[in-house]
Amino acid sequence: MSSLFQQQIQPQIQSIKPYVPGKPVSELQRELGLSHVTKLASNENPLGASEKVLAAMEIALKDIGRYPDGNGFYLRSALAEFNQVALNQVSIGNGSNELLELVGRVFAGPGDEIIYSQYGFAVYPITAQIVGATGIEVAASNYGHDLAAMAKAVTERTKLIYVANPNNPTGTCFGRDEWEAFIQSIPPHVMVVLDEAYLEYVDQVDYPSGLDYLADYPNLILSRTFSKAYGLASLRVGYMLASEEITSYINRLRAPFNVNHYAQVAAVAALHDQQFVQQSVELNRQGKKQMIKALEDAGLDYIPSQGNFICVKFGLDAAEINQRFLQQGVILRPVANYGLTAFLRVSIGTHQENQHFIDALSKVL
Ligand SMILES: Cc1ncc(COP(=O)(O)O)c(C=O)c1O
Repeated sequence: MSSLFQQQIQPQIQSIKPYVPGKPVSELQRELGLSHVTKLASNENPLGASEKVLAAMEIALKDIGRYPDGNGFYLRSALAEFNQVALNQVSIGNGSNELLELVGRVFAGPGDEIIYSQYGFAVYPITAQIVGATGIEVAASNYGHDLAAMAKAVTERTKLIYVANPNNPTGTCFGRDEWEAFIQSIPPHVMVVLDEAYLEYVDQVDYPSGLDYLADYPNLILSRTFSKAYGLASLRVGYMLASEEITSYINRLRAPFNVNHYAQVAAVAALHDQQFVQQSVELNRQGKKQMIKALEDAGLDYIPSQGNFICVKFGLDAAEINQRFLQQGVILRPVANYGLTAFLRVSIGTHQENQHFIDALSKVL
């Protein structure tokens, strides 16, 4: 870029590192001349979407020339009913990613502080940068959020705290006691975003569901997605639940047609097919067992995960081992950008996809 334009770019935008997406399966196949490639890099649902979703989208195809419903009435109504909240407490986004960023823009700007955990989901520090706020990273405890330390990090400049339960990429999950002590200690004017992107997969018995706290804590915002257990990652649809007041501000900032018609139709159908969600969760549970056994047999350490992925410790050679996995046709997620240089993240796939990873494991080590 010419230096003339570089001067015009906002300083906080100049310092953002561009997101590097994983290679598409087809490109890797072509590059390496492989016939069989397994992508376990993006925490997607290996079952794809439910048949009911596909059928609903087929019917909706005839509407392709029309704008979507800008208010997302049917989807928001379905979500309000599903979660037993008022319609005006639901906002929808082009993936929960968009909403996580919108909340940052609603509440924080230059001079403000946004708190998140070390190894917390990448969108939180990026949002702090985008809005020009100061990102405050709080050291993790055993790879998970140290909620007590995060509460202590609140100052008079703090506007927003992002917590993910479970967290990506670590899969760590905090329990009810820790959460309640945290949320009770946060000043009521400081917003807390509880990102529950992976909640459907959680087995932990003392998992605190954010919904149980929404009525008592008006500074609480819940973030959910259809990209994981519901299998709609390509359509980009997520939602937030918050007080009606907060939701009205998120809606003011939202582009009028931010969630396309097919995403809305598919999400309603997906929400009504909880059997598919249960099937996906069970597949994940079995797949995680299969993967953990293989990792333990290979003598590898990993971070215990409540999500649909596992962060595996490969040591100093992790980057090289990632290349060897690619040669074997297995795409994993390097997490060096999180400071986890010794780890690679592997998503849980179908039984056969997991087996491809396991077969490759013995060859790459
Ligand atoms: C913790 C967490 N939150 C939010 C998201 C965003 O998901 P989406 O934008 O697909 O809803 C992800 C995606 O991987 C995630 O891991």
